[in-house]
Amino acid sequence: MIDRLESIRRTLEAHGQAHVLAFFDELDRSQQEELLDQIEQIDFEALDELIAEYVLRKPRIELPGDLEPAPDYPFDSSDPARPYDAKKFRGKGEELIRGGKVAAFTVAGGQGTRLGWDGPKGTYPATVVTGKPLFRVFAEQIVATQRRYGGTIPWYIMTSPINDAATRAFFADNNYFGLVRRNIFMFPQGVLPSIESGTGKLLLEHKHQIAMNPDGHGGSIKALSVSGAIEDMVGRGIKHISYFQVDNPLVRAVDPLFLGLHAEARDSSAEISSKMVAKAHAEEKVGVFCRAGKKTMVIEYSDLPPELARQTDERGRLRFGAGNIAVHAIGVKFVQKLTANVHHFGLPYHRAEKKVPYIDVRTGKRVEPQEPNAVKLEAFVFDAIPLADGPIIYETSRVEEFAPIKNAKGADSPATSHQIQSDRNGGWLARNGVTVPSDGDGHVAAMIEISPLTALEAEDLVKVELPKVIAPKQEVVL
Ligand code: UTP
Repeated sequence: MIDRLESIRRTLEAHGQAHVLAFFDELDRSQQEELLDQIEQIDFEALDELIAEYVLRKPRIELPGDLEPAPDYPFDSSDPARPYDAKKFRGKGEELIRGGKVAAFTVAGGQGTRLGWDGPKGTYPATVVTGKPLFRVFAEQIVATQRRYGGTIPWYIMTSPINDAATRAFFADNNYFGLVRRNIFMFPQGVLPSIESGTGKLLLEHKHQIAMNPDGHGGSIKALSVSGAIEDMVGRGIKHISYFQVDNPLVRAVDPLFLGLHAEARDSSAEISSKMVAKAHAEEKVGVFCRAGKKTMVIEYSDLPPELARQTDERGRLRFGAGNIAVHAIGVKFVQKLTANVHHFGLPYHRAEKKVPYIDVRTGKRVEPQEPNAVKLEAFVFDAIPLADGPIIYETSRVEEFAPIKNAKGADSPATSHQIQSDRNGGWLARNGVTVPSDGDGHVAAMIEISPLTALEAEDLVKVELPKVIAPKQEVVL
């Protein structure tokens, strides 16, 4: 122990981080071990570079001079701007699902700090009437899709070391939502220390624990490889991964048309494809798909100059209006290509300034900062797009597929998500001849929930016994 401690102390001193041992002598033996283990897992050479590059200065984003909007497959497949045979591509996607070549993949390692839910975000009660947790919504979609097409859709779930145990317990308590246990593969993503802004110092979350954060959804590419998930997929004959975030109850977990386009469209390399929705307005806080030369990329809203964000095209639509909703189809081969040398692979980091509670090493007291005091470094999965040869983009309808729950209140909150869920479900009912009340602003004035086990899309309601009329404020569960 003494030799180990001395060697660790020397490393910490060499990197200006010896303060993390400030309370070492107060700790019990197992806490001492835990702290030393944690320190030994940190690559201090690499960390010094990250601190210099991202924490002590703000990296400047240089936008390419030849930035253009990226082309997309429009939602309306008969749009003269780019017509395509939706039926054919949907059929191709259905074949892939039937043949067991598609896996579902949920990234659920985030901390969900904005929502402030005590537990993994996937356990959040998200639906309008029964408050079904997000994980159950996705599980029901997988069950329903398997029933329809007959193939098995294994489900990969990325957790983080912080929420892994709670996520596993939730699935076990819910009997895996009726899915076969061996077809669910959970794995934790990597973590990085959160760094104090201005000083570049590590922070102590507890006297025996350094504050760490998950390394972003972009950490999923590496984590798929190091966890053995990709190997597992190869063993099962999986070719394509249907990637989605944990916080969107309307996401189409496995979409045959999107997968068909990804796998078969002439301009797709089947490496990574993305869904987009038209931005609601120029200031909406979503990244947009752009192209520069041969590269396709997402430019974050904060990096897009306002004059570009406001530009309109000949049809009067926002020119840079293809909003990223973080739904992708990813080729297994693409992940293998990127991670062939996994210890040298990493997507670039983005810095986020956050409030990270810590123990003050001078006083030993816990500090709850009122203002952001630390930088968290996160990789974003869309940074894999410029690394692909032929990434394609497919437009979907916002009301059909995008009702994210990010914040406790305001935009992208449970309240806005519930309204969009009722709007979508009310729209499905209206298309099937039901009279649905409206609030005069184009929104549905009732709480309507439709289980994926009842319908995966509006057409599935044809076989369902439906009410003729829904009253204002009525709660409906189908
Ligand atoms: P967000 O960017 O909304 O972050 O994640 P978050 O951590 O969930 O929430 P805040 O910012 O703390 O409020 C988008 C998606 O990416 C996943 C999340 O679980 C969510 O599905 N994610 C995010 C990860 O899997 N790992 C991460 O390190 C970050």
